[in-house]
This record gives sequence, C-alpha cells and structure tokens, in this order.
Amino acid sequence: MDSIHITTPHRSYPIHFGALTPKLQFKGKVLVVSNSCVGALYLDFLLPKISAPEICICIIEDGEHYKTFESVQRILETAFLHRLDRKSTMIALGGGVVGDIVGFAAGIFMRGIDFVQIPTTLLAQVDASIGGKTGINNVFGKNLVGLFHQPASVHIDPFFLRTLPAREFAAGVAEIIKMAVTFDAPFFEWLWEHHLSLETQDSLLTALRGAISIKQRVVCQDEKEQGLRAALNYGHTFGHAIEKESGYGHYLHGEAVSMGMVMVNALACKHGCLTTSEAERICTLLQSYNLPTHYKILNKQQFYHSLFLDKKTANNKIKFILPDSIGNVLFYDKFTYEEIMNVLEQFCDS
Ligand SMILES: NC(=O)c1ccc[n+]([C@@H]2O[C@H](COP(=O)([O-])OP(=O)(O)OC[C@H]3O[C@@H](n4cnc5c(N)ncnc54)[C@H](O)[C@@H]3O)[C@@H](O)[C@H]2O)c1
Ligand SMILES: [Zn+2]
Repeated sequence: MDSIHITTPHRSYPIHFGALTPKLQFKGKVLVVSNSCVGALYLDFLLPKISAPEICICIIEDGEHYKTFESVQRILETAFLHRLDRKSTMIALGGGVVGDIVGFAAGIFMRGIDFVQIPTTLLAQVDASIGGKTGINNVFGKNLVGLFHQPASVHIDPFFLRTLPAREFAAGVAEIIKMAVTFDAPFFEWLWEHHLSLETQDSLLTALRGAISIKQRVVCQDEKEQGLRAALNYGHTFGHAIEKESGYGHYLHGEAVSMGMVMVNALACKHGCLTTSEAERICTLLQSYNLPTHYKILNKQQFYHSLFLDKKTANNKIKFILPDSIGNVLFYDKFTYEEIMNVLEQFCDS
C-alpha cells in the first residue's frame, strides 16, 4: 500500500491508498463510528481488518440533519460506557458528515484522542477526510462549531465507492474539478481527457491521487486557513448561498458548488482574470458529469445578503476567490454592490 504524508505544526500523518491491508493495529481500545447506511454496508467488512484489545461500535443516524451535538453526545456516551481512555482511538467510517462529527468528538473527548478517517464517499476521500477540519451544524448555520483536529491516519479505498449513488459520485467530482481549477492546470487538462467513473478504476485512482496531493500541499502550507487554504473555497461563497436559498438538502453540496463555480466564473470574466472560453470549458466539464451548472436565483436581494454569511467574510467585505486563468486563483474583495448585482442578474432568468 502506498501513501502520502501530511505534515502540520501539530502532527504528521499518512494518507494510505488501496485496500485496508495489512490490518489496522491499535494498542488501546477502538470505537468505530458509522451511520445506519454505511454501517449496514461495510461494518462486517471493516471489523475483521482491525486488531485492538477491544472494539466497540456506535451507529449514528444518516444525514446532514444529524450533524449535531446530539450525535456527538451519543458518541461520547458510548466512549465513556466502554471506558475508553486517552490511549484509545475513534474510527470514522462514512462520508464527510460522519468524519466531521467523529473528528470533533475525538477532539473533545478527554481533551483530545486519536481518530482515524476511513472515508466512504468520493467527496470525503478527496476533501473532507483530509486536513483536520471537524465540526457540527447548529441553528445558526453549517459547520459553525468545531475545531482543527488532525486524524492519526486516513485510508482511501475506492472499493467503498461501488455502492455510492451516481449523484453522490458526481458531487465528489465537482470538488475534484474545483481543486484542478484552483491549483493545477495540467490536472485540469488530464480531467478534460479522462472521464471518471467507477468502471475506470485506474483513472479514478489517478484522479484521487491528483486531488489529494493538491489538498496535501495546501494543508501542509496553511493548516488553519490563514491564507492559501481559503482558495479551496472557490465556488463555495455562491454555493452556500444556493444551498440556503434552495433549502438545505435540495441540492447536494457538490452540486451547489458546481453552480457556485459557474457563478463566480462570471464575476472572474467581468474582472478580466478568466476568459469566456476558459469559463465555458469549466462549465462543459461539470456538465459532462450531469452536474447542474445554472442556478436560477429566486430573490436577488436576499441572495446578495446570503453571500455575507460565509465564514470568509471579513469587515463586511466579501473576499471572492477568482480563477486567474485555469490553475491559479486570486483573492479579491473590491467588487462594488452594482458589479455583484449585475452578475446576479445573469442568473435571475431561467
Ligand atoms: N472537514 C472538511 O474539510 C470538509 C470538507 C468538505 C465537506 N465537508 C463536510 O462533508 C459533508 C458532506 O460529505 P458527503 O458528501 O460525504 O456526505 P454524507 O456524509 O452525508 O454522505 C452522503 C450519503 O452517502 C451515504 N454513503 C456514504 N458512503 C456510502 C457508500 N460507500 N455507499 C453508499 N452510500 C454511502 C451516506 O450515508 C449519506 O447518505 C458536509 O457535512 C460538509 O460540511 C467537510
Ligand atoms: Zn465543498
């Protein structure tokens, strides 16, 4: 099994590619956390691959709706009931929701114990499981409560993806395209030439490695999102506003990001840092995965205000992440109200 390493000021850890062999070895107790869907599919597969003095299990409800304190509480209670201690490890088996919750629970249990990420969605394999952002939602918004807590290791096994619904797969591809546009022009060209699917395992593995290497480079340079790492939020300022206006859950996160990238590209074209033909290529690539690329804004004024809810907003200025041709990004916070509204106008017609 080969691997790449993430090194941050706090921790260095491997991201392993391939089947979960040899066994995962632990000296202390292990708590495996999954949700009702992934647990039913893959717990029997995973458990024989873990060697530990004691293995206990906690199953939480499936869905973003359950990314709450209640789920964290359930995990902590299981951990206390089974007398986990500071030498114990939590394992997150699932998509980004499970990974974010378990990382948070592990980060606060006895002031922080180890956790291992075994991501089972494409989005979690290329993005959410790497980099140590953990957290939960509350009534004020998504991911507003959490901490940076790096995993002890991440295990990427494309085997898990075979049961992933097509829409979820495409949502993960949107984040892969995001990484190529922001940081890696040759990778974008490669994606242009190769169509990813579960049937093309070699290409899929190359894409996983490509996207994960980008995330690794970025996290190693800027663990806490003081600068560079914020570029990975390309498409997310508009994407989050889309998720809010359309009602959380209507679009998958990756679908909203796909439309968000198209919107911010329109702004980048106006600014002159992206050409229309580059914007069209990005749009065409997204469409080739049946990702939505045109969002019809329902209420322009409210949509505009939603842009400010983003965590990247500072001093009441929105810092937009604009592609500076494909493969580079720049941050820009000087658009006027009129300039932004003009672009939003383009998305008010069907
Ligand atoms: N921490 C980070 O850096 C980071 C980055 C991006 C996204 N996120 C978070 O990730 C979450 C989204 O993650 P997601 O897209 O993986 O969604 P998810 O975890 O909700 O998984 C999507 C659905 O697929 C199911 N599923 C998971 N693996 C499966 C498999 N192998 N086969 C069949 N079904 C499977 C899940 O049960 C769920 O119903 C959001 O909460 C987002 O905030 C975090
Ligand atoms: Zn995202």
